[in-house]
Amino acid sequence: MNSTASIVSVDPVIASAKFLKQAFTLKHGLADHPLFKLPRLVELAKSLPRDRIEYNSGKVAVGVKPEDVPKIDMAAEDVIRSIETATAWMVIKMVEEDPEYRALLEAFVEQANLAAGRKAGDYSNLQGFIFVSSANATTPFHLDAEENILIQIRGDKFVRTFDNDDRKLISEEDMEISPSKHRNQKYETWYEERATLHSLKPGDALHMPYMIPHWVSTGDSYSISMAMTWKTPEVLRLNKIRLMNGTLRRFGLPQKPPGVSPAADMMKVIAHDAMRAVIDPIRKSETARKMLRGLIYGRKANYYYETKPKTGM
Ligand SMILES: [Fe+2]
Repeated sequence: MNSTASIVSVDPVIASAKFLKQAFTLKHGLADHPLFKLPRLVELAKSLPRDRIEYNSGKVAVGVKPEDVPKIDMAAEDVIRSIETATAWMVIKMVEEDPEYRALLEAFVEQANLAAGRKAGDYSNLQGFIFVSSANATTPFHLDAEENILIQIRGDKFVRTFDNDDRKLISEEDMEISPSKHRNQKYETWYEERATLHSLKPGDALHMPYMIPHWVSTGDSYSISMAMTWKTPEVLRLNKIRLMNGTLRRFGLPQKPPGVSPAADMMKVIAHDAMRAVIDPIRKSETARKMLRGLIYGRKANYYYETKPKTGM
């Protein structure tokens, strides 16, 4: 990509009013980009450690229980190669570790932020997640702890975003961050009253702000899309508090949500940073990451290593 001029197209009035606050659609110019062709994605999947790829059957209900999500007994690269027939859902995580994807991500997120009137570089933790899903696959109801623009590359994607301001859909406790939690959240049919449906085609993009609940389905052919995510200083702060709250709850010490006690929030941020200074150097190896997750958060924290269907299901 020799220029960033054409990769994001957004109405600046809408962007400055809604950016980081509400979901809205925009356009992108990456639908034919070679980084999203299947052979390149196979190459990418083969180059990444196993815990960077999560996949399962795409035939799941919106509110499926985490333990009931059916697995697929196939290597990640074979799932991509056979995505037209595999009935699968896959996410390739942290693709920013590949320099080509990183360059694209940097250019896109920077341009989107500038279009919304934010200062250049006023964010960190750029990450890319590529979703490869068969036709009629469902991503169950969940929320994500980062800012996000989802770009649709191939096929149709239907994204329902939800109003959760009063925490009636997903509670503060369920918004706590813990690796032992599966991403999927409980879903009830009345939630649909609060949904806004966004129908995305190749060339469309959707901004989903921090912790906006959503669920997603694909159309009648396979879909490729990429979530381009980043964190603002405020998101980093909230995540530290929510991670500390999730960890303390695991040890039987439930805490108040962020915002209730500024002094407690500040202590949690300081404790978090001290813990990370010790743990981060250890987390560089996949084996150590797996061991740490299991040690602190229990066996379920490594759920995405399971590829084989459960017996009797
Ligand atoms: Fe998501």
